[in-house]
Amino acid sequence: MKKIAIFASGTGSNARKIIEYFTNHQNIKVALVVSNRKTAPVLRMASENGVDTLVITRQSFYHSKSVLDVLDSYRIDAIILAGFLWLIPPYLVKNFPGRILNIHPALLPKYGGKGMYGSHVHQAVKAANEQESGITIHIVDEEYDKGRIIFQKSCPLEPSDSAEAIGKKVLQLEHRYFAPVIEEYLNIENQNNLKDEVI
Ligand code: GAR
Repeated sequence: MKKIAIFASGTGSNARKIIEYFTNHQNIKVALVVSNRKTAPVLRMASENGVDTLVITRQSFYHSKSVLDVLDSYRIDAIILAGFLWLIPPYLVKNFPGRILNIHPALLPKYGGKGMYGSHVHQAVKAANEQESGITIHIVDEEYDKGRIIFQKSCPLEPSDSAEAIGKKVLQLEHRYFAPVIEEYLNIENQNNLKDEVI
């Protein structure tokens, strides 16, 4: 069984979809939800779904390795960032090489980087009169939105689409594709590990 931890800062609609998708799954389980905001709705949603939660502070996240201890105690194999707005510190990247995935609500490398999250992204897309937007799922490294892209899906935009309407189109894609992409990625990784073990 592969265990995942979801990191999220806000509403947690993606976290909810992921939890629902992996409920009773054969070999993947959401074991923990981590948030940097103790009032984040995602924490309540997780508890209601029987998933353990952890609240982190800047101090604990950036100046100690206590998060790592908790992740180890749950035997977490992979971290999924679903609307998590803090930069992942180097010690976590090192401990989860290729095993931290992020979803970004635009077609990277456009509209990524520090400050580009949520509605800011859609406002920038709208301001640039883009004819399409979409989602990017990528591996996390030590910079915002820079790691290897493993999946993208686009959606056409109309000139009349507001930033809010763009956000809705993009969120639909996130809800549809994020969990299956996580599943496929972890299962492929599983096979690679198996191969390594055989060699
Ligand atoms: C999602 O649209 C996600 O792509 C975005 O935050 C939203 C969280 O929504 N993430 C970023 O912008 C990261 N740069 P949710 O809390 O309803 O899942």
